[in-house]
Amino acid sequence: MAVSLLSFLLFSFFNLQVVNGIEIYSMKIDSKVTSRFAHNIITSRAVNRGNVHKEVVFDVELPKTAFITNFSMTIDGVTYPGTIKEKEVAKKQYEKAVSKGQTAGLVKASGRKTEKFTVSVNIEAASKVTFELTYEELLKRQFGKYEMFIKVKPKQLVKDFEIEVNIFEPQGITALEAEGTFITNDLQNIIKKTFSEKKGHISFKPTLDQQRTCANCSQSLLDGDFTVKYDVKRTTPDNLQIVNGYFVHFFAPTNLPNLPKNVIFIIDISGSMSGREIEQTREALLKILDDIKGDDFFNFILFGSEVHTWKETLIKATPENLDEARKFVRGIDTEGLTNLHGGIMRGIDMLNAAHEGNLVPKRSASIIIMLTDGQPNVGISNPQDIQTHVKKAIEGKYPLYNLGFGYGVDYNFLEKMALENKGLARRIYPDSDASLQLQGFYDEVSNPMLTDVELNYPENEISDLTKNSFKHFYDGSEIVVAGRFIDSNQNSLTVDVRGEGVSIDFFDLKETAKAFQEQQYIFGEYIERLWAYLTIEQLLEERIAATGEEKENLTAEALDLSLKYKFVTPLTSMVVTKPETYDNQDGIADKPIEGRDVFTVLLYLTPQSHPTLICMCWLGHPHLSLIQQV
Ligand SMILES: *[C@@H]1O[C@H](CO)[C@@H](O)[C@H](O)[C@H]1NC(C)=O
Ligand SMILES: *[C@@H]1O[C@H](CO)[C@@H](O)[C@H](O)[C@H]1NC(C)=O
Ligand SMILES: *[C@@H]1O[C@H](CO)[C@@H](O)[C@H](O)[C@H]1NC(C)=O
Repeated sequence: MAVSLLSFLLFSFFNLQVVNGIEIYSMKIDSKVTSRFAHNIITSRAVNRGNVHKEVVFDVELPKTAFITNFSMTIDGVTYPGTIKEKEVAKKQYEKAVSKGQTAGLVKASGRKTEKFTVSVNIEAASKVTFELTYEELLKRQFGKYEMFIKVKPKQLVKDFEIEVNIFEPQGITALEAEGTFITNDLQNIIKKTFSEKKGHISFKPTLDQQRTCANCSQSLLDGDFTVKYDVKRTTPDNLQIVNGYFVHFFAPTNLPNLPKNVIFIIDISGSMSGREIEQTREALLKILDDIKGDDFFNFILFGSEVHTWKETLIKATPENLDEARKFVRGIDTEGLTNLHGGIMRGIDMLNAAHEGNLVPKRSASIIIMLTDGQPNVGISNPQDIQTHVKKAIEGKYPLYNLGFGYGVDYNFLEKMALENKGLARRIYPDSDASLQLQGFYDEVSNPMLTDVELNYPENEISDLTKNSFKHFYDGSEIVVAGRFIDSNQNSLTVDVRGEGVSIDFFDLKETAKAFQEQQYIFGEYIERLWAYLTIEQLLEERIAATGEEKENLTAEALDLSLKYKFVTPLTSMVVTKPETYDNQDGIADKPIEGRDVFTVLLYLTPQSHPTLICMCWLGHPHLSLIQQV
């Protein structure tokens, strides 16, 4: 009697945290950052408080730039590890499971900044399960800060909840910040933050009561992004680190004057842009005009069925010209179809003529920004032909940035074309903040400091170098190059950096670094993993624009590295073999490819735990959810 009363009391106490019989009693996010390379482990522990077997779902959102590197489930003391496989092999295994009448559990969809990882498993009454997911990413520097965000969404009150971040930066840490979109004034004090010299520490450990949306409420406040930002001390423009036969070179000069820039805005004004999209574009352009500097040159090219230009040539950003540009922008309206080829070629020709005619300063950075929401359908509209003409006209002289507005674009084509021309593509999500997204992109490229930056290392000492030449260096960003020593015992290196700035002819720098002494401080071999991460990322990027044998070679190389270093990339999957009881089967973790079709399998488990496959479909874009009964 006493025992059952006690268990009754315990049950009522826990009842607040129990959702559908399952209590997540612990969730820990442990993040270790060594020299911008982040290694994060999410551990979630749950118990089935019901008296029949139940499904436990583990779902987390990860940054798109991250690669999953490990996943395991432990059920009642038995660990089911994840193994990395080539995607095709994993898919066959998955198909085999399906044909046997079993069903595999995988969900991986993507949001704006995140990808979702979901796995579910059935556990018996009173059983416990631990999920452990590891992912790694290289933190990028933007606007003078490295930023790491952690999506926090436990969906229920968790007795033991903790985020812990340890940062180790050999150059020394400055300005460590931590904030959460869900943090209230009361919660602010719970974020503990310390840093001194090379080490930074952040911990966030709210109690059950602190997690509640209100006193006695059972809803959790924890729902949003937890963001950590920091920067490092820079006594020299660059920093070289060597560990166990690998090196990484960080280059981010500060206090250089900005180069004047020549910007061509090529704007799609086809009918589909009408309404909110063109309004948001006008709004963004007006804000951008406020930020254009007096010695910059610029022009607008609009394309619908026809191509219109504001001025015949690039114009200096004098106050009078800016006023006139504002009037022009306010008057931009939509018309016709999408003559993308005509628009972009006019822009490139204009920029070429400005350089040839010495209309723009010799020392300046030229940039082409194209915004489109559709697919070319007037004039030359074959994507391959457009790419060929654009590449031939630009000849590597200026970076091309392609912004794809909404989901009607052929993002793959925009990305290929941008990457072929030393730029990049971005998606502009058709939400209320689209105008801010456009401005945000402009801000990233609005302060060029150097052009044609090259970082060279002795060829006879280094192999497997990552990308080492960059068209522009923008203020607040950072260039990262990594490589492998031919002689793995070598522990010093001479580097040669050059680039063209406003006043310096030559930014020449020779530096020798000794092997970094405090190696293996937070997690060992981080430079080797950082090198692998960067190499895979760049191979996958090169692969986008490649064709034929070159593409096959790049794919093979990226696949080898993904398997060797156990990264879940678009070429690999992680397969978890779940226990056989209650129809639990294999789960697969896949990485979707931005802008391509996303292969998604949704699994629905009925209350009786007879799995029913409801969707196995290629989704055209990440926000479309098409559910089909199979
Ligand atoms: C993956 O995680 C499991 C569980 O923590 C661990 O036993 C295993 O060693 C890890 N694998 C790798 C490659 O780190
Ligand atoms: C919370 O619940 C306790 C016990 O039921 C009650 O005494 C207290 O007044 C409640 N507090 C609020 C703010 O509702
Ligand atoms: C692809 O790899 C093979 C074998 O390494 C090599 O012979 C060939 O030249 C490569 N092709 C291209 C286009 O890089």
